[in-house]
Amino acid sequence: LIGAVSALTLAVAASTANAACDAGEVVVKLSHVTGGTTHPKVVAANNLAERINTELNGQMCMEVYPSSTLFGDSKELEALLLGDVQVLAPSLSKFGSYTKKLGVYDLPFIFQDIDAAIRFTNSSTGKDLLNSMEDVGFVGLGYWMSGMKYFSANKPLLEPTDAAGLKFRVQTSDVAKAMIAAMGASPQPMAFSEVYGALQTGVVDGQENTWSNIYTKKFFEVQDGTTETNHQLLAYFFMTSSEFLDSLDADLRADFLRISDDVTQQANLNVKKAEATNRANILKAGGEIRSLTPAQRASWVEAMKPVWGQFEDEIGADIVKAAADA
Ligand code: LMR
Repeated sequence: LIGAVSALTLAVAASTANAACDAGEVVVKLSHVTGGTTHPKVVAANNLAERINTELNGQMCMEVYPSSTLFGDSKELEALLLGDVQVLAPSLSKFGSYTKKLGVYDLPFIFQDIDAAIRFTNSSTGKDLLNSMEDVGFVGLGYWMSGMKYFSANKPLLEPTDAAGLKFRVQTSDVAKAMIAAMGASPQPMAFSEVYGALQTGVVDGQENTWSNIYTKKFFEVQDGTTETNHQLLAYFFMTSSEFLDSLDADLRADFLRISDDVTQQANLNVKKAEATNRANILKAGGEIRSLTPAQRASWVEAMKPVWGQFEDEIGADIVKAAADA
């Protein structure tokens, strides 16, 4: 029965934006962990599937599995290497066991805003980082931006000292762990699919995320409020494996890469709007959002900035400088 239920769940989850795959088509599975309809990653993934299923009909077919229904955080990268999935878009904070360089994206307050982050991803340093895991067999197709991150907790957070002693869920990132420790709080790495339950039952007191994730995963319902800390970027490494790319005929590979690039450009144009919509959705649904005075913001920067020094050597001082100057 469990098998039947999960097969049904998968079939339902995969139905969005999926054309039935015909015999002879190369089947491409895209797995990701976010959900809802207004999330920028959901929109980008569905656009990609729609373009592939229309333009490459007869040759290639894409199935999208959102909300960790095929693979969650802990298994998806391994599954890509095993060929059980062909396309992923994990957050840049989830690659610490493959490369340290992407840790640059996690440094607190390194980007003034999402525009600075986009400028860095378009720079030669940012583009080179797409190839930082070639040795593993991971190919970066582009960056899908999401937004800046904000802290939420089960009590109001206005000064970093308000977070002292609390437990925060983080992604599997050493930089994020150090940042939470710098606030005098404890980091708890956890898969995205477990965050709502952990907040609800008090396993953790808070978390950090974008408006799109806080709204579509309903975190605001089980938190006192969210503070506009703007402390860190959330963006995705839109990726495939070299094994999959190499398996495609040259023409099909070129078409797949062209469509992937178009969808990436489009996704990044729309991302600020998606964040603004989901911020408004939180307020409409009764969620509390607190902003910081310039003095309060300065104390968050001061508490977290020392984290840069802890990671500069392993990331590369040149990479850190290029990001900070973007
Ligand atoms: C998280 O784990 O908080 C995010 O990376 C989830 C996502 O993919 O947006």
